[in-house]
Amino acid sequence: MSKFEEARRKIQSGGRLLYRICFVGMIAEAVFFIAQLVITGLVFVNKEVALMVHLRLRDNFLFNVLRSLSILDGMEPKYQAAVGCGVLLSFYFTVFMMLRLFSGLLKFFAEGEHPFDSDMAKRIRNNSFYLLLFILYNPILGIATFLLTLLFSYIMEYGAYIQQRADETNRIQEEMIVSFAEITENKSGQTGQHIKRVSEYSRILAETLGMSREKADQLGIASTMHDVGKLLIPSAILDKPGKLTDEEYAEIKKHTTYGGQLLQNVEGEEMELSRTVALQHHERYDGNGYPAKLKGDEISLEGRIVAVADVYDALTSRRSYKDAWSEDTAYQEILKGRGTQFDPSVVDAFVSAHDKILQVRAQNAD
Ligand SMILES: [Fe+2]
Ligand SMILES: [Fe+2]
Repeated sequence: MSKFEEARRKIQSGGRLLYRICFVGMIAEAVFFIAQLVITGLVFVNKEVALMVHLRLRDNFLFNVLRSLSILDGMEPKYQAAVGCGVLLSFYFTVFMMLRLFSGLLKFFAEGEHPFDSDMAKRIRNNSFYLLLFILYNPILGIATFLLTLLFSYIMEYGAYIQQRADETNRIQEEMIVSFAEITENKSGQTGQHIKRVSEYSRILAETLGMSREKADQLGIASTMHDVGKLLIPSAILDKPGKLTDEEYAEIKKHTTYGGQLLQNVEGEEMELSRTVALQHHERYDGNGYPAKLKGDEISLEGRIVAVADVYDALTSRRSYKDAWSEDTAYQEILKGRGTQFDPSVVDAFVSAHDKILQVRAQNAD
């Protein structure tokens, strides 16, 4: 997990906690709101309640502002209390609405894919001035909320800036990967759409296996480099129309280790994934693959996924040395490899996502 993602996860779990606290606050506000409503009703019925409310309101900042404006002067305590309660009621309502807004924001923050959004940051900042209204309700709370919201908006804006830079780095990585893949494609004389289809199949299989959308997309891109090591194999061998000799076949097999070497010192999550896939896409689940004869879980899940995607596409495509197999024969061949050549769970995913795979195949035919 990259440092950025780790930080984002921490922020998200913090956001979730705040959201829960805020939710409890909202319920408390709602209870106060209802209580105030009941009291407002009672002032008209019961003299003692009216007096009590009147006495309580004497300490209220807003009520005293209203009094000093002599709006309430000359009124009977009962009516003063009723008007005061009404004013407080509307303030409870405002607080309630603001808490709702704030909790909605926190929810977005806790669950959103990208919690940082510079437009949102600006909107929060502009709206934070309304929070100054809280000063009427309680001066300390008002100023504190205003300052906190302002701080929150700046943090969000900074987060958006970092996010933008990370996105840019990812974009450059992806472009590099795609150009590498195109060069490989030209060199190895594979029919144009092989890399595209393997990438799409891998993405679909990854998603079917429960990987997040983000991870599946990442694998889709990384898988385009699975044969990058073929750049180091002589064209005479790659383009040879007839049957290969044992030595030539041994040389071709080296494209896995060559791929690993080419991508050895790369940095970045996607590039590292590309390296794993280039190294492992010819390993077999039963340990009889190459180059390292890895077995079962020793092969990364990504390697096991691309293995199925690559073989299925090789079978269903025409190559210089063979015709394309029919869909049904290729499908049966994949099933036959369940538990020997391929990871059983990946084959199961292949079966359940078969419709989607067929669709991709039809859309990207040679
Ligand atoms: Fe390969
Ligand atoms: Fe391939």
